[in-house]
Amino acid sequence: TWTTGNVIEEQIAAIRAQVGDKRAICGLSGGVDSAVAAALVQKAIGDQLTCVYVDHGLMRKGETEQVEKDFVAATGANLKVVDAEERFLNALAGVSDPEEKRKIIGREFIRVFEQAQLEILQEDGPEVAFLVQGTLYPDVVESGGGTGTANIKSHHNVGGLPDDIEFELVEPLRQLFKDEVRMVGQELGLPAEIVQRQPFPGPGLGIRIVGEVTKDRLDLLREADAIAREELTAAGLDSEIWQCPVVLLADVRSVGVQGDGRTYGHPIVLRPVSSEDAMTADWTRMPYEVLAKISTRITNEVADVNRVVLDVTSKPPGTIEWE
Ligand code: XMP
Repeated sequence: TWTTGNVIEEQIAAIRAQVGDKRAICGLSGGVDSAVAAALVQKAIGDQLTCVYVDHGLMRKGETEQVEKDFVAATGANLKVVDAEERFLNALAGVSDPEEKRKIIGREFIRVFEQAQLEILQEDGPEVAFLVQGTLYPDVVESGGGTGTANIKSHHNVGGLPDDIEFELVEPLRQLFKDEVRMVGQELGLPAEIVQRQPFPGPGLGIRIVGEVTKDRLDLLREADAIAREELTAAGLDSEIWQCPVVLLADVRSVGVQGDGRTYGHPIVLRPVSSEDAMTADWTRMPYEVLAKISTRITNEVADVNRVVLDVTSKPPGTIEWE
């Protein structure tokens, strides 16, 4: 019979058999899948695992701390955090085109992650031969089912490493669906904020700022997003809403009146959607009172925002994200 306890035991035995006394690396994204995969592998091989978290500065309020503090507290994992905010901001400077932003973020991410891998390879200890990935069953089916290997290229490196290093993949979630992964994560003691987290795109808030991404704009959006999330949770809407992107229209200004004067600030868009699988979605008919509370708080508490608008477009024709 299927129980989370059985799944965990089976996977721990399989991971130990696969990895032996070598070492493994796991990239953490802040998302559910990588966190649960890492927690399972940690339970199986302990200190033979090193986790890597690239802080690209595009996360929401509190998310980096969740990985740095709560994930580590819950699992006891070795975690290497790379603070790459400045590098990402520099690479994104002057860029407004959504596809270009995605390419830059993806490229920088791989470079920073590979550099961190190389540093781990150069530490003393057993050979690092494995890369842990949070591949789920639906991903396996979509990609045709093969297991694989991953390469990193060390051509920028001087430290006597081979030109091309190959890792074998460890994928302990390959037989699981998302809801099962959440159950396994919970059983492993991961915090609810990580296990119940709603989908969040890899490029993070970088694709929720319509216009150029800057530190000030990110800080502003982080505040607005935190308020929206807080109120949605307080209203008990987390299970009803698939996800609620909060978007800053940084290139738009509109006239408002706040305190004793005219303002000329930015709009914030709320995009609550209901969905089964993100392929199609409908805008969530959520209570006006909750929308009113979010709007009042954001315009009162976030400087430079003087208008909150609701996106009432289904997917299709609109995508869930604005970029
Ligand atoms: P769209 O905007 O295409 O989004 O309707 C569908 C789902 O995918 C998420 N999304 C991403 N996730 N990297 C990710 O990991 C990405 O680049 C990305 N773009 C969109 C989005 O949040 C939604 O859940």
